[in-house]
Amino acid sequence: MRIAVFPGTFDPVTVGHVDIAIRARTLFDHVVIAVAHNARKNPVLDTHTRVALAREALASLEGVEVKASEGLLVDFCKAEGAIAIVKGLRGGADYDFERPMALMNRALTGIETVFISGDPALQHIASSLVRDVARHGGSIEGLVPEGVEPALLAALERERG
Ligand SMILES: Nc1ncnc2c1ncn2[C@@H]1O[C@H](COP(=O)(O)OP(=O)(O)OP(=O)(O)O)[C@@H](O)[C@H]1O
Ligand SMILES: [Mg+2]
Repeated sequence: MRIAVFPGTFDPVTVGHVDIAIRARTLFDHVVIAVAHNARKNPVLDTHTRVALAREALASLEGVEVKASEGLLVDFCKAEGAIAIVKGLRGGADYDFERPMALMNRALTGIETVFISGDPALQHIASSLVRDVARHGGSIEGLVPEGVEPALLAALERERG
């Protein structure tokens, strides 16, 4: 069985992530979405909520699983028996950002990173932009799967205190 890991922060999961997960599944028998704990990014949603929302969004996709991950990505990949890391590309900036990590991960363990071009119609969608739009009262309908907006608005409300 060919297993891939698709890592990210998923703060929150977007339709762009779902698109990449679907495309990754056409190449691999099993795709593990690795929701990074990622304290450095200081996520708005806690890990449990990010995992739960991603699970809900991807529940209908057979062969796709969502797990929380901590520590080195290559260690998580080894534990999952993955032969590749999958990353989505919106454009050249994503590639420039991802390339050193892909090379480092390969230098560490030999694992390859597979880059998948996302749907061009979803190129404007990033979790950080979705959070900014929601934070300032804009609609994020169509940018995120069902169930994400209320959870994100509640978390942003708590953030405001
Ligand atoms: N719309 C999209 N099209 C293609 N790839 C995407 C899209 N959105 C996210 N990805 C990819 O998903 C992976 C995980 O990304 P991550 O969880 O950091 O989301 P993000 O949208 O980049 O969030 P942030 O804006 O906070 O960095 C990355 O490889 C990223 O390139
Ligand atoms: Mg990003």
